[in-house]
Amino acid sequence: MSENTFTFSKENLATYNEYLTRYDDVESALLPTLHLVQEQNHWLSEDAINYVSTLMGIPAIKIKEVISFYDMFYDVPVGRNIVQVCTNITCSMYGGREIYQGLLHHYETSFLTPTRDGRISIQKMECLGACELAPCMRANNEYVGHLDLASAIHKIDELA
Ligand code: FES
Repeated sequence: MSENTFTFSKENLATYNEYLTRYDDVESALLPTLHLVQEQNHWLSEDAINYVSTLMGIPAIKIKEVISFYDMFYDVPVGRNIVQVCTNITCSMYGGREIYQGLLHHYETSFLTPTRDGRISIQKMECLGACELAPCMRANNEYVGHLDLASAIHKIDELA
């Protein structure tokens, strides 16, 4: 069993405790808690999952099931910035798949693998719910639409 090295910062522990006051049961606070872990740690490592398991009294296997269900949670190391490129039908009709492939090529990376400088991970997504912006991507939490490869790269290069 690996040693737990992840712990919430003082601020995040206070935020977690505040979450608990919003819900009737501890399990309902799991999703926001995982978001908080990811904010602090960038990804949901084994020791972070074990920490949450102990903190919340939820078996680690149950937490892993939740993580694998949602594509906004990462159980592998990712870059500081997440770029999600839509390759679903509407965006694909406007070149979404080519933009995704072009970005992987430009940044010399593959699905979710952080770029060598650790700045970016690029993720292929199903519909981002913004088809009117097709082809589109989400750079961290910002939607960017009507893309071509050059404008996607321009936007990504602005990320810290
Ligand atoms: S198909 Fe791309 S946002 Fe809906």
